[in-house]
Amino acid sequence: MSLALIERYRSLLPVGDATPVVSLGEGSTPLLPAPRLSERHGVELWLKWEGANPTGSYKDRGMTVAVSKAVEEGAEAVICASTGNTAASAAAYAARAGLRAVVLVPEGAVAAAKLAQTRMLGARVLEVRGSFDEALGAARVLAERGTHVLVNSLNPYRVAGQKTAVHEIVEELGGAPDAFAIPYGGGGNTTAYAAALAELGLDTPIVSVEAADRARTLASAIRIAEPVHAPKVASSGARVVTVSDEEIVAAWRSLAELEGVFCEPSSAAGLAAVARGAAVGRVVVTLTGHGLKDVVAADRHAPPVGTVDPDPDAIAEAAR
Ligand code: F0G
Repeated sequence: MSLALIERYRSLLPVGDATPVVSLGEGSTPLLPAPRLSERHGVELWLKWEGANPTGSYKDRGMTVAVSKAVEEGAEAVICASTGNTAASAAAYAARAGLRAVVLVPEGAVAAAKLAQTRMLGARVLEVRGSFDEALGAARVLAERGTHVLVNSLNPYRVAGQKTAVHEIVEELGGAPDAFAIPYGGGGNTTAYAAALAELGLDTPIVSVEAADRARTLASAIRIAEPVHAPKVASSGARVVTVSDEEIVAAWRSLAELEGVFCEPSSAAGLAAVARGAAVGRVVVTLTGHGLKDVVAADRHAPPVGTVDPDPDAIAEAAR
């Protein structure tokens, strides 16, 4: 039976005996060596593969804690604003717990597969005519009215759950790496990593990687113009590195082609920073979401499909 993240890290989490554990078997994700990319970039690279979580992103680490606590506190409904992954995770854990979920997404700006996933999971999905930041503002007001529990990373239980990724990495490596590199959207995950390091008494640098054009990047998961955790990221000591979409796409494709790991574009931001020398030594890059989350982006950037007759000679020729 797969171990619930809350059971594995119970002592580190704000849960008690009365907390009902709402789990889909999250966490305990693979930490993969990346020999070819290590050689290319002159580092010892490890990939924390968070796409292996139940809904395909690291959000499940925080959502299991946030939804479990919402149930404990008697909530009937949760709400979030999302660029897609928080949406799918909130929908899944709410369904698991028998809660209603309301999801606000910026109109026309979320990967179609994430929306389909969220709808299948039974959330009420509302496209907001506005940006992610505006949707988040509305969600916060509704949560303050007390009808819905906010499950964005402003919810401290989300951040608490997300800390566990760092614990897993340090346990598995038998110590701290020389650096962590993670994408920077709203900054909740950077805040969580910094909190985990503080807990462990480590001062390992975090390279927090944002898209150069935050409002328009192809990496739609991190298309957030005004990161809500910016002050905490600034005071966390994380080093913020900015990468272009071209660098993100190059890193994204190299992860798939050289290491066999298909993540979503935003997840490649950490590697894009490593590629330009932002971290040295033993580096852990967290790949935050699965590539199947954004098949439209993949379709646009992957090599073309060939077409052949069912003729072995023609196939042999075309396959060369
Ligand atoms: N990677 C992925 C795959 C994400 O979905 C997100 C954020 C990030 C990185 C950035 O993390 O916001 O903690 O700095 N996604 C949110 C969402 C905004 O709604 O799914 P962050």
